[in-house]
Amino acid sequence: MQINELLTDENIEEGAWKALERSIIYYQGRPIGTVAAYDVSIEALNYDQCFIRDFVSSALIFLLKGRTDIVRNFLEETLKLQPKERQLDAYKPGRGLIPASFKVVSNNGQEYLEADFGEHAIARVTPVDSCLWWIILLRAYAIATKDFSLAHQPEFQKGIRLIMEICLANRFDMYPTLLVPDGACMIDRRMGIYGHPLELQVLFYAALRAAREMLICQGNQDVVAAIDNRLPLLCAHIRQHYWIDINRLNAIYRFKSEEYGKTAVNLFNIYVDSLPYYELDKWLPRKGGYLAGNVGPSQLDTRFFALGNLMAIVSDLATEEQSQAIMTLIEDRWDDLVGDMPMKICFPALEDEEYRIVTGCDPKNIPWSYHNAGSWPVLMWMLAAASVKTNRTSLARKAIEIAQARLGEDEWPEYYDGKKGRLIGKQARKYQTWSITGFLLAKELMANPSYLQLVSFDELPPEAVSRACEFEIGSVDPCVP
Ligand code: GLC
Repeated sequence: MQINELLTDENIEEGAWKALERSIIYYQGRPIGTVAAYDVSIEALNYDQCFIRDFVSSALIFLLKGRTDIVRNFLEETLKLQPKERQLDAYKPGRGLIPASFKVVSNNGQEYLEADFGEHAIARVTPVDSCLWWIILLRAYAIATKDFSLAHQPEFQKGIRLIMEICLANRFDMYPTLLVPDGACMIDRRMGIYGHPLELQVLFYAALRAAREMLICQGNQDVVAAIDNRLPLLCAHIRQHYWIDINRLNAIYRFKSEEYGKTAVNLFNIYVDSLPYYELDKWLPRKGGYLAGNVGPSQLDTRFFALGNLMAIVSDLATEEQSQAIMTLIEDRWDDLVGDMPMKICFPALEDEEYRIVTGCDPKNIPWSYHNAGSWPVLMWMLAAASVKTNRTSLARKAIEIAQARLGEDEWPEYYDGKKGRLIGKQARKYQTWSITGFLLAKELMANPSYLQLVSFDELPPEAVSRACEFEIGSVDPCVP
């Protein structure tokens, strides 16, 4: 049967499973990942590679279906690609990084893996999210297999440690958040998200939580202490400074600027006129709210970014109240954020002069397309996970129904364009693996809510928060109760 011959609901799913099977990459006879897209009608560029971030949704599906070997192979092979030596050279990936993608290359009958840390990518963007997703996935593997022994192996302990070291290293700023360049995550083109973008802060938080669970204390006391120190600070910073709802908007609207010293209320010196506050005042539902896209010196990016907000709910970074408010926003602004294809990567689009200046006139990121407020089916699994976590499953059900009516027939596009996501993305690949797995995973999570535990965390223990705030790194051994 052709993958798309009969499009009943069952057949759509069956087609999706077959397409996922076809996307698997083999290395020395073993399955180790999935291609980004299997679209023979268009030049592959690097879509025939396995992207770390794209593979996460494939991996979660494989874990749920007991095909843990693929995920284990992936984790083992990608760990080997991680640079272990300290590099002070430009053009070399830093110690601890995990590549954006890799491919299998054959030479004289010998297969080997070639990693891309951004040196081949368009605009040479280095991924920051890969190493964070890698840790999150390693923990998901341990939970699914009920076996932490892989994570406890010395080379895995070293891998986790090196990632923590690169993330927790001293830098030129003193925020608890991660300072990153533009295009260092799913949005891998210039979109004005350099600084402290929400997506990476949330993944950073989840990776810190995951690393904390997996690191054996002995020999890692310094890193564990640094994690325990950072987690509550990061958590409080995001909850407080990224949050936007009507009360917060009121406070910001009346902010004084140019405050100096410790008593400043407008900590980041946000100039009110830089915000589209009249639009926000209209757009924000009375009970809804969300986490801002970015916070920095005189910068509050008020765009809504879906991945960061949804994963903040799933990872328990957002408070229970904030999580409910984010879901209320999605429900009340359904046409804007979900529309005819779940769901918008961000909202609203950058338009006109702002589009030209911020994206550098990127023709792929024109308003309401691709990263600039296009709709990405992969986000559906995160919407489902957030819905399960907040007990708002009717939202995910509705989203899946909308997607189900189109995705299979449209041959699993990478993204959709338009204000409501009605157009298949201008340059979207077909048979995009994470569109397929985003849909399948959403269905699996709805059918079996206990799967949520693979990616979710419990509340950060309040005593850990207060204890971690009290000690300076190294002065208390957090491994000793
Ligand atoms: C594009 C997307 C990126 C994705 C890659 C492979 O570059 O922007 O997020 O990982 O394609 O699908």
